[in-house]
Amino acid sequence: MKINFLDLKEFKLQSSVLSTDSFSSMQSLQILTDYIIKEMFDLHNEASQTVWDRKMFDEELKREGSGFLICYSDGKKTDGDPETQSKFTSADIGASIVADIQSRILGFFIFYNVLDEMHILDITVAKNMQSKGIGSLMLDRIIKLNKDVGIKFFFLEVRVSNLTAVNLYKKFGFKIFMLRKNYYEDNGEDALCMVKEL
Ligand SMILES: CC(C)(COP(=O)(O)OP(=O)(O)OC[C@H]1O[C@@H](n2cnc3c(N)ncnc32)[C@H](O)[C@@H]1OP(=O)(O)O)[C@@H](O)C(=O)NCCC(=O)NCCS
Repeated sequence: MKINFLDLKEFKLQSSVLSTDSFSSMQSLQILTDYIIKEMFDLHNEASQTVWDRKMFDEELKREGSGFLICYSDGKKTDGDPETQSKFTSADIGASIVADIQSRILGFFIFYNVLDEMHILDITVAKNMQSKGIGSLMLDRIIKLNKDVGIKFFFLEVRVSNLTAVNLYKKFGFKIFMLRKNYYEDNGEDALCMVKEL
């Protein structure tokens, strides 16, 4: 199984460009965009404690400077069951940039950029695909791509109890610079504020 990446905002843009040419291609791209967004919501709700609001999500998608990186597989099982694969590495990244309705969304990454700062809003990997290197592949890709467009600081907040996420960020050189007390409304949990400087 190869894993691929898709920029959801570029993808949406493509659908509006196509709309002037062909109504049916616009319709199929819209169906696919809706499918991807629904999959993202399902993954998020399964994997995360923080509840998402669809209206806020749509606003974020429109915001200048925001980015949505989707990680997906083509849905074809070529190397046996992907769930039994122990770790994915950069050798498993495919060349495809065309998702279709068979695509299986494995994870996603949401951020927004202001000047030379990236603010990481969310990173999620499907529950049954966690701890297989996919979060690392996404973070690595985002850091490399954004370094090239002048981003120097990467900021994020994470629940103090979320050891997997904290370990992922530490692996990529993020450092804790502050504790925000009672940051999460659902359970009053504290947030660690972390930064990576290039
Ligand atoms: C946090 C998350 C994105 C990490 O993605 P992932 O694909 O599971 O992470 P990776 O397999 O790339 O592992 C990265 C590092 O995290 C740590 N890690 C992974 N699984 C772990 C586990 N079960 N326990 C502790 N640390 C773990 C390790 O340090 C690992 O590095 P290593 O494999 O080189 O030792 C993913 O677990 C997830 O979606 N969690 C739920 C949503 C969430 O909490 N998002 C973060 C919001 S701030």
